[in-house]
Amino acid sequence: MLASKLKAICSSQELRSTPYREQGIALKGQPLPALIFMFDGNPYSYVNHCMHMQRRLNCEQDAIFDASGQYLRCSMHGFIFDPKTGACQSPVCFGQRLQALRLEEIDGIVYFSEKHLTLID
Ligand code: FES
Repeated sequence: MLASKLKAICSSQELRSTPYREQGIALKGQPLPALIFMFDGNPYSYVNHCMHMQRRLNCEQDAIFDASGQYLRCSMHGFIFDPKTGACQSPVCFGQRLQALRLEEIDGIVYFSEKHLTLID
C-alpha cells in the first residue's frame, strides 16, 4: 500500500474513546458524510446514508448503535445493521448494505485506504 493512498483519520485510542466519529469525505469527487467507529476491537467505516431514505443514521439522535450495542441503528425509523458488514437486518431493506469504506490501522493510527477518497471538513 502506498502511503499516499492512506488518509489519516485519528488515533486508534481516540476512536476507542468515543462511540463514533464523523468525517466529511469526497469519493471520486462526490462529497459524502462518513461514520467511523470501533466494534469488537476493529475500526469500521461506512458512508452515513441509510438506504431507506438516505438519512444519516444519527439524524434524529446523537447515536448510531441500538440499546444492545450490537447493531447499528438508524435513528429515523429504527432500521438496524450489522456493524461488521453494514447489512440491513430490518425487513424492508433486508440484506442491502451500507456503503463500506476501507480502513487500515497502522501503528495506532486509523487511515482511510480507499482510492479516490479525499478528506473534507
Ligand atoms: S431513513 Fe433510516 S430507517 Fe428510515
